[in-house]
Amino acid sequence: MAGSKRSSLHGQWSSRWAFVLAATGSAVGLGNIWKFPYITGENGGGAFVLVYLICIACIGIPIMMAEILIGRRGRRSPINTMRVLAREGHHHPAWQYLGWIGVLAGFLILSYYSVIAGWAMAYVFRAAGGMFSGATGEQIGALFTGLISDPERLLAWHTIFMVMTMIVVSRGVQSGLEKAVRFLMPALFLILVMLVGYAMSTGSFTAGIAFLFTPDFSKLTPAAVLIAMGHAFFTLSLGMGAIMVYGSYLPENASITQTSVIIALADTLVALMAGMAIFPIVFAHGLEPGAGPGLIFQTLPIAFGQMPGGAFFGTLFFVLLVFAAWTSAISLIEPAVAWLVENHGMTRVLASAWAGVITWVMGLGTIFSFNLWAEAKLFGKTFFDLLDFATANVILPLGGLFIALFATWTLSRKVTMEELGLQGAGYQLWYILTRYVAPLAVIFIFLNVTGLLRFG
Ligand code: PHE
Repeated sequence: MAGSKRSSLHGQWSSRWAFVLAATGSAVGLGNIWKFPYITGENGGGAFVLVYLICIACIGIPIMMAEILIGRRGRRSPINTMRVLAREGHHHPAWQYLGWIGVLAGFLILSYYSVIAGWAMAYVFRAAGGMFSGATGEQIGALFTGLISDPERLLAWHTIFMVMTMIVVSRGVQSGLEKAVRFLMPALFLILVMLVGYAMSTGSFTAGIAFLFTPDFSKLTPAAVLIAMGHAFFTLSLGMGAIMVYGSYLPENASITQTSVIIALADTLVALMAGMAIFPIVFAHGLEPGAGPGLIFQTLPIAFGQMPGGAFFGTLFFVLLVFAAWTSAISLIEPAVAWLVENHGMTRVLASAWAGVITWVMGLGTIFSFNLWAEAKLFGKTFFDLLDFATANVILPLGGLFIALFATWTLSRKVTMEELGLQGAGYQLWYILTRYVAPLAVIFIFLNVTGLLRFG
C-alpha cells in the first residue's frame, strides 16, 4: 500500500518508550514551569486553569494524535510530509505551507525560548553561589532586575544555550536525547515534589491551592480564554510540527493513542505541581501573582534561600529547568533542520549551524525588549510580548486547526484508523473531537476575542 511502510531518512526511535520520553522532553519545558505559573497569575487563577485543562483534554490530546499520525505516515520533515501526503491523496499542494508556517513558528519561538533558558542558566550559578540565602523578597526581585537589564549578560547566556541546543541537534535527536530524558524527567519530578513539600510549610499552602483550583468565572475574559487555549498548544508542543517530526521517527507498532495520553498527563502534572509550589510562596511573601515573566525567578529563590540545603536544591532545580528547556528547544528547531537535510542535501551539522545562527540573531530582539527597547511598544506590547502572543496564541492554534482539518477532512478514515490502531467508539470519539470539536473551539475562541462574538 502506498506510503504505509515508509521509513525515515533520519532514523528511528529505538522503541516506543524512547519516543514517549523524547516527546515528553519536548512537551515539558519552560512552558510548564516558567510560563504556566505566570500566565495563571496574570489571568486570575482557577477559572483560567480549568479552561486550560479542558483545552488539553478536548483539543490538545486529539490534535496531538493527529500530528503524530501525520508524521508517522509521511516519515519526512513536516514540510515534505505535508507535501507528499497531499499529493498522494490528490489534494491541493498548498497543504505544504502548513509545514512552512511550522518551521517559521519554530524559529520565532526558539528565538525567545533560548533567552529565557539563559535566565535559568544564570540562576544555576546564582543558586550555587549562595546568593539567595536569607535574602528578602525585595532583594531577590532586585537580583532579577539586575539580570534582565543587562543585555551583555543575557546575550552571553543566550549564545551558550543556542550552542548547546545546536550541538545536540547536529548529532541527530535520537542518540543523545533518549538517554538524557530518561533520567531527567524523574529527577525534575522529584524536585518538584520537594518544592511542593516546602510550599506546604509556608502557611499559605491553602491560599495557593485555592487560587489555582477555585474557579472565579468573573475573572475569565475572552482574552484569558485565548491565552489558556494557546498555552495548551504551546505546552504540548503542538501546531508547529515538533511533535509531527518526532512522530516521523516513531516505530510502526507503537500505539499513538496511549503515548499521546501519557505525554499529556505527564505534561499537565508537571505544570500543576509547579503552580502548587509557586503560589503558596507568592502569598506567603505578599508578592504579586501577576508579576509576569519574572514570577518564578522572584519566588522560588526565596524558598531556596530559606530551606536547609537550599543552595544545593536551588542549583539542582535550575539545572533541571535548563535541561527541560534544552529538550524542548531541540524539538523546536528539528523540523527546520530535517527539511534542510532533505531538500538541500546539507549535512546535519551544516543545517544545524544555519538554523542556529538565524535563531541566535532573532533572539537579540527579545534580549533588548527587556532593557534597551523596553519602552518600544506596539499595541502596548514589547517585542518579546508580541512574539510570545503571536506564536502561542495565534500561530500554534491556527497550525493545530489545520492539522486537525487535514487529518480528518483530507486523509481517509482508512488511513487514520490504521495509524491510530483504534476502532469503534474510541475511534469515533477521536474523529468527532478532531473533525468538529477542536476546530470549532479554536475558531470560536478566536472570534470571541476579536469581538465578533461576545460571550459573557
Ligand atoms: N512545549 C514546550 C514547553 O512547554 C515548548 C514548545 C512549544 C516546544 C512548541 C516545541 C514546540 O516548554
